[in-house]
Amino acid sequence: MSFDQPTQEYPSIDSNLHVAVIMDGNGRWAKNRGWPRLVGHRKGAERVRELVAACPGLGIRYLTLYAFSTENWKRTTEEVMGLMSLFARYIKREAARMNREGVRMRVIGDRSRLDPKLAGLIDWIEQETAGNDTVHLTVAMNYGGRDEIARTMKFLAREVAEGRIAPEDITEAMISDRLDTRFLPDPDLVVRSSGETRVSNFLLWQAAYSEYVFSPVLWPDFTPDTMQTILHAFHMRERRFGGVTV
Ligand code: FPP
Repeated sequence: MSFDQPTQEYPSIDSNLHVAVIMDGNGRWAKNRGWPRLVGHRKGAERVRELVAACPGLGIRYLTLYAFSTENWKRTTEEVMGLMSLFARYIKREAARMNREGVRMRVIGDRSRLDPKLAGLIDWIEQETAGNDTVHLTVAMNYGGRDEIARTMKFLAREVAEGRIAPEDITEAMISDRLDTRFLPDPDLVVRSSGETRVSNFLLWQAAYSEYVFSPVLWPDFTPDTMQTILHAFHMRERRFGGVTV
């Protein structure tokens, strides 16, 4: 499927779910076909576009995607550069569609290590889509849960050192309000594709009470229908947040 084909297949339903996704399996998908890993990532980017378009119909208001972790710098320069240019291309190509479909895009993670051109593009798309409210797309780029918590702790420590807050006044809510995700509700559901059953440093603080679904589907094969099946299973689960059901 090309980048330009419309994919709105589901009628809009009223729900404010926050679904976070660890998009895994691009490399294996490509390898299975004897193709370079980047071909898998490119196919993965098409799946992102389809899923974003399907969000209103799936009842997903907040979609958070793990695109590049703080550990992914260990990959070959070719793959890292390829991924970075894929992100830049996605932003440039999808900007108009995001505005048409009411998608607000934001990026979480440590931007200081990103190429200044890509960082500039991220600033631009965040401003460009700031007025949209139908779907909140958050892309985690150079993101690691521990790194995010460490940056937040440094910020809090500075506030304490400057006398603006007292250590004994620090609450969980104050920590949440200083994380990269401060503008998001906690995820209701975390999905990982490709059959791996690890959390891989994704939203460690925020997913404390999230449901997890591990899907065997490799990300380049992951369609809105795959998500719909997962959401069906999710809606059957009972969420108790540590309490008991009466
Ligand atoms: C993990 O699969 C995937 C990534 C590290 C990159 C995810 C990126 C995309 C889906 C591309 C587009 C994203 C956006 C937001 C435009 P892997 O390469 O580790 O797969 P493997 O475990 O099979 O090797």
